[in-house]
Amino acid sequence: MKTQVAIVGAGPSGLLLGHLLKRAGIDCVVVERQSRDYVLGRIRAGVLETVTTDLMIRLGIDARMRAEGLIEEGFNLATDDRLIRIDITALTGRHVMVYGQTELTRDLMDAAPNRDLPIVFEANDVALHDIDGDAPYLTYAKDGVAQRIDAQFIAGCDGFHGPSRRAIPAGAVREFEREYPFGWLGILADVPPCHPELIYANTARGFALASMRSTTRSRYYIQVPLTDRVEDWSEDRLWDELAQRFDPLSKYGVTHGPALEMSIAPLRSYVFETMRHGRLFLAGDSAHIVPPTGAKGLNLAASDVAYLADALAAFFASGDEVGLVGYQARALARIWKAERFSWYLTKLMHRFPEDGAFEHRMQAAELDYVASSRAMQTAIAENYVGLPL
Ligand code: APR
Ligand code: PHB
Repeated sequence: MKTQVAIVGAGPSGLLLGHLLKRAGIDCVVVERQSRDYVLGRIRAGVLETVTTDLMIRLGIDARMRAEGLIEEGFNLATDDRLIRIDITALTGRHVMVYGQTELTRDLMDAAPNRDLPIVFEANDVALHDIDGDAPYLTYAKDGVAQRIDAQFIAGCDGFHGPSRRAIPAGAVREFEREYPFGWLGILADVPPCHPELIYANTARGFALASMRSTTRSRYYIQVPLTDRVEDWSEDRLWDELAQRFDPLSKYGVTHGPALEMSIAPLRSYVFETMRHGRLFLAGDSAHIVPPTGAKGLNLAASDVAYLADALAAFFASGDEVGLVGYQARALARIWKAERFSWYLTKLMHRFPEDGAFEHRMQAAELDYVASSRAMQTAIAENYVGLPL
């Protein structure tokens, strides 16, 4: 098979890029290792910046998002006994939208057949070849049969564990990493949220986040030691812990209910600065990871592919390579600012095992300052709502 752009990975990056390219009249194919159901079974964050909602609107895949997404004009930072509301709309004139990444992925998958965007699921052993030359290609196996896709460009949208980043020679790469000494234990349940807006809480018992998917579905997280396993936590134990942290802070208190999903995820900051090598371009989690504090992961994927789609469209329209040459610098400028904000919010809101009384006082003083300073609140709000493209 021959195409103009071969896309590895059918997460949000690969699917958004595929739709953007198709809309620009560029031929492409998406190749995904997992099945459709597996991809749609992954529970990820759910706060969309305008960058992301605008892309869905531009693509005309926004009907369900606009009908079901919740507009959030503010969110809260909290200590044990105090809620500090960050009024996003008053401070920035904008808002974010709560809409699960899983739902957005489903909408992009559902729209693919009508728009002639081919997605090959369950493609095994995807490998990238000749990315240094001008005729790169992918190989994979589908139902036991070897396949090959020749392309002019390859887009590596295959997440943190995919093969694209690793296809770049070691001598050509620069990477930066920070791991955090805790994970997030999450629970999804069909119970009404404890509060109308998200709450990120730094309590004496550790960090906790009250989030939601809709007015009837809640998503909560607590900070846990890296040694904890999901099996260590019964649902009742987790609900009791959430109630201790949120009942004093929230409007309605925590409603318990059967878990639809429970999982533990580690927290990491990671940037792979080599986002282009020859004919290979990386986008989304294949090139960078943020800790989930601030929900920047999906939104960064969206800005990467917006830049990349523009650059590829200009190239295929007129041979103009300026966008392709500038892609990495343009993307990294936004990525590093989101890395900074996610790291800042993670440091401000979590209990680090190595921290002592002095560091706790620093966090308390900073939160007290945020509560009293419009300038601090504006800085937090404009990063949370998303920096411009
Ligand atoms: N071959 C083909 N596809 C692969 C391979 C492979 N060898 N390895 C991984 N993939 C697929 C994964 O199965 C996944 O569906 O690439 C896709 C990558 O999707 P994501 O991990 O969702 O990454 P991305 O699309 O960049 O989206 C970033 O998703 O991970 C979250 O928090 C992150 O919200 C952020 C967003
Ligand atoms: C979520 O709803 O899953 C969520 C929300 C905000 C975050 C992270 C996760 O910062």
